[in-house]
Amino acid sequence: MAPPSQVSVWAPAKINLALHVTGQRDDGYHLLETLAVFTRFGDTIEIMPASEDSFHAFGPYSADVPVGRDNIVAQARDLFKKGTDLDMPTAITLEKRLPVASGIGGGSSDAAATLIALNTLAGTDMDAGALAELGTELGADVAMCVHRAPLVAKNIGDLVTAVRPFPRLHVVLVNSGVQISTPRVFSGLTNRANSPLPKIPSQFATDELDRWLAATRNDLTAAAVRLEPEIETVAERLVDAGARFARMSGSGATCFGIFDNAQDASQAAATIADRQPGWFVVATETTAHGDQYEPD
Ligand code: C5P
Repeated sequence: MAPPSQVSVWAPAKINLALHVTGQRDDGYHLLETLAVFTRFGDTIEIMPASEDSFHAFGPYSADVPVGRDNIVAQARDLFKKGTDLDMPTAITLEKRLPVASGIGGGSSDAAATLIALNTLAGTDMDAGALAELGTELGADVAMCVHRAPLVAKNIGDLVTAVRPFPRLHVVLVNSGVQISTPRVFSGLTNRANSPLPKIPSQFATDELDRWLAATRNDLTAAAVRLEPEIETVAERLVDAGARFARMSGSGATCFGIFDNAQDASQAAATIADRQPGWFVVATETTAHGDQYEPD
């Protein structure tokens, strides 16, 4: 079969439903345990063969995307080419709909999507495990974003185990517009040796999930709130708008709220956006294993 002439890959947002920091390695990286899910809302990466390598971003948050070598998409491309001895220049386009440096894995997901797209375009046939291992060189979260389905990640976030079955959740993502530096949040931790995640139930029905979530934490919250106190207001707005559960994702500042159905989620998103016109507010659904990524 002829290789495709162009590949488009979805780069979903990642939500850390729970994130426990359990220790720190000698190299400074933190040991953590997280339950992460991915949403139907996200960025898109499009790649086609070209006469020379290029990278271009457009979309609502493209102005915040670093250019040149600092860009994680360009780094993912270079890493893939080096790792596979690929000698094929490409034109890469990123539609940036996820806010940058906001705790929902935008950059890591863009990098993961770039690896997945190049693997298809070049017909290199690497499996998800091999792509995830390659991607870990770019950031601890990239492996999770290669797997892009409900999972538990341990170690520094790079050791991934699928969690299935896991329900699709109706969620609202809210960010007040602040960017947060992940290293600053980690270095602001006052306690680095917290308890691990409680046992993952073998069946994650809705009431079990609620019970499980109530017994978990995001251990980065206090440090992030010290840097950006508005995070607490964002979580309160979600609860005021009817979320049955709300929490910060990753190192912040984006918070997610879980709702009973799509209508409640959209209604809540409309209410919050109406009150705070400058904020990033999106109602979406999380995906289950095997779901095809169709943009919202
Ligand atoms: O791996 P990534 O580049 O996404 O991490 C950004 C920064 O976040 C790291 O340089 C480190 O300071 C911090 N980090 C950490 N422990 C982790 C993941 C990230 O301390 N498990």
